[in-house]
Amino acid sequence: MKRIAILISGNGSNMQALLQADLPCDIVSVISNRADAKGLQIAAQHDIPTTVISHHDFDSREAFDQALGDHLQSLAVDYIILAGFMRILSDSFVDRFAGRLLNIHPSLLPAYPGLNTHQKALQDGVKIHGCTVHFVTPRLDHGPIIIQAAVPVLPEDTAETLAARVLAQEHRVYPQAVRWLCLDKIRLSRDGHVKTVHQPQPDFALVSPGLI
Ligand code: GRF
Repeated sequence: MKRIAILISGNGSNMQALLQADLPCDIVSVISNRADAKGLQIAAQHDIPTTVISHHDFDSREAFDQALGDHLQSLAVDYIILAGFMRILSDSFVDRFAGRLLNIHPSLLPAYPGLNTHQKALQDGVKIHGCTVHFVTPRLDHGPIIIQAAVPVLPEDTAETLAARVLAQEHRVYPQAVRWLCLDKIRLSRDGHVKTVHQPQPDFALVSPGLI
C-alpha cells in the first residue's frame, strides 16, 4: 500500500474526508505548519500520528521547505496530499517531490488561482464555480488537472454560502483523486500531463446534482 502524508494548516475538513474514505493506502502522518490547526485534533481522533513543523522556526522559506522535505523523506511517503496547506512551496521542494504532490483548490482552475476565489467568482458574476484537484508544479495553482467538480452560483450567494457548496464537492473529489493515485490509475507523465491507465471514467468530471 502506498504511504501518504497529509499537510494541513487549518480546519482539516478535506483531510477528514480523506480519513473517512477508507482509501487503499496508509495515511502515515498529518503534518501542520500551525500548532493551532483544528485538523490536528481530528487526525489524532483517527489515531493518525501528527507533527507540527512551524514555519516561524525557520529563517527562510527554503530552510522550512528543506526541513519539511527531510521529514517527509524520513517517513518514506509515496505521496504528499496538500489539504488546505497555506504555504507556498519553493520550486526546489516541488522538484524534490515531482509527481508526488497533490493539491485541492477552491475554483475551476485555471480560473481564480490564489486566494479569495469565492469572492472573485461572485464579483465576476460567473454562474458556475467549483473545485479542482491537480498535481503540484512550481507555478502556483497551475498543475495538471486530475478532477474537477462544478456547482451553481445562486443569486443570493455570499462568499460563505458559495464556499460551503464548493467545499461539499471538495470532500467528494479529493478522496476520488487520491484513490486513483493509490491504485496507480493516474500519474504525472514526464511531459507534464495526467496519464490515466484506463479510459477515463464518466466521473472524471463531476457535476453536482443541483446543477442539472
Ligand atoms: C479548501 O477550500 C481547500 O480547497 C483550500 O483550503 C480549504 C481548506 O479547507 N486549499 P479544510 O482545511 O480542508 O477544511
